[in-house]
Amino acid sequence: MHKVIYDTDPGVDDAMALLFLHRHPDIDLLGVTTVFGNASVETTTRNALFLKREWGIPCPVAKGASVTFDPSRQERAWPTWVHGVNGLGDIDVPETVDISPDPRPAYQFIIDTVRANPGEVTLVAVGRMTNLALALKHDPDIARLVKDVVIMGGSFYVPGNVSPVAEANIHGDPEAADVVMTAAWKVVVVGLDVTAVTTMSRSYLGEMAKSGGKSVQLLNDLSQSYIDFYKHAVEDGMMVHDSCACVYVVAPELFETITGSVRVVCGGIADGQTIVKPDGKRFPPGDWDNLPSQIVCTGIQSEKVIDLIRDAILTA
Ligand code: BDR
Ligand code: CA
Repeated sequence: MHKVIYDTDPGVDDAMALLFLHRHPDIDLLGVTTVFGNASVETTTRNALFLKREWGIPCPVAKGASVTFDPSRQERAWPTWVHGVNGLGDIDVPETVDISPDPRPAYQFIIDTVRANPGEVTLVAVGRMTNLALALKHDPDIARLVKDVVIMGGSFYVPGNVSPVAEANIHGDPEAADVVMTAAWKVVVVGLDVTAVTTMSRSYLGEMAKSGGKSVQLLNDLSQSYIDFYKHAVEDGMMVHDSCACVYVVAPELFETITGSVRVVCGGIADGQTIVKPDGKRFPPGDWDNLPSQIVCTGIQSEKVIDLIRDAILTA
């Protein structure tokens, strides 16, 4: 059983990944922590609570960061053209949900839960890395107590999606991402190299909804405008970025990987770029030296990943 804390900014693809984690038989979802990104943290937290209620998810939801790790960074507009104004594809979502979040801020929830389960917790982070960086700042020792960290973010040998070199989750808080990549814990980076080629078609999701009942119909409804957004890149379908990171937890054999130290560019025109120095490559002394070797995904068996997502979600 994999004990997981899911750090997320729901978010349409975040919602699919949440249902996957909730339903996969080998995952014990200990908590959901929210972060700003696809919308404000008020909105992403409300969305997480809404999905918790609709899908009967028992674990707590803890509200996280509302601004970047370095608070002097200027916030940009929320990507409403991707995830809708309400972060869930502008389906009907109540203003408030009558469930209270956990009283602790997300970083404290992460620290407490990791300390209560030493060596056992996988952090799956699919939004900006702010909560994870804050947890490390408040309690650096948790790095050695976490089992592993699996993130959706970055792009290495393919273009970014918010600039030619930067992916949204990293670009949204580069300083936090650099803290996470360079900490003394094992990070698996599931970036656009593998998520941009892992797409689910509208009809495939529609078929899932037919057999999955009300809960999968909700997922289908909230995904429709996100699928419309992706028409520039996907033939009537969507990239399922965040679910790919969740699949890695249970089926790492579906991914090709390299190892090396990873840094994040902070500032300038390449703000948010992720760069790996592959292990074994020799360079003069530089900024990648003496850092932990992380795992970077470079290949994926997309069809198997998509089927695995479907099978888990349809496990009622
Ligand atoms: C990432 O950015 C967000 O739009 C998605 O939820 C995903 O986590 C993809 O770049
Ligand atoms: Ca996300």
